[in-house]
Amino acid sequence: MSAGKVLVLMGSGSDWPVMKKCTEVLERLAISHDVHVASAHRTPQRVVELVEGASAAGSRVIVAGAGMAAHLAGVVAAHTTLPVLGVPLASGALQGVDALLSVSQMPPGIPVACLGIGSAGASNAGLLAAAILALDDEQLAQRLRQERRLQAQKVEQSDAELQQRR
Ligand code: RP5
Repeated sequence: MSAGKVLVLMGSGSDWPVMKKCTEVLERLAISHDVHVASAHRTPQRVVELVEGASAAGSRVIVAGAGMAAHLAGVVAAHTTLPVLGVPLASGALQGVDALLSVSQMPPGIPVACLGIGSAGASNAGLLAAAILALDDEQLAQRLRQERRLQAQKVEQSDAELQQRR
């Protein structure tokens, strides 16, 4: 397992089917992680408690996924200097465009790295967290390079199959 840990937060239990894409990546790369539902609006004190305890619990990166007005990543970033990766989730009438703007348009001074909306953003948050941890974990860096090689092989395999069908 990796030395550094990732804390994965989401604003609602309804976010879990998408945020699971992030934890699946972390599991595949053998990265230790904690996962919690905590809402910037509905349980603000719990968010602060989790974030303030994150470093002591061994977390080096925090991933925060939320939909609609999506203040979770910003609130998390306000309470820590750990890198915060925000995942805007598709929910409500605007299907993630609202969350994308909330997560990406942070005021200067409190940065959040904003991923894409939904599943792609959630799995990329896992990969980006891995890349950050891999800066000082060579074994993890090797697993990450292997992940890229496997991905490339799948594309090459798809192309080979396409050429055979034509
Ligand atoms: C956000 O509101 C959550 O992150 C979720 O994406 C959205 C809707 O939450 P629920 O009403 O499904 O709990 O805070």
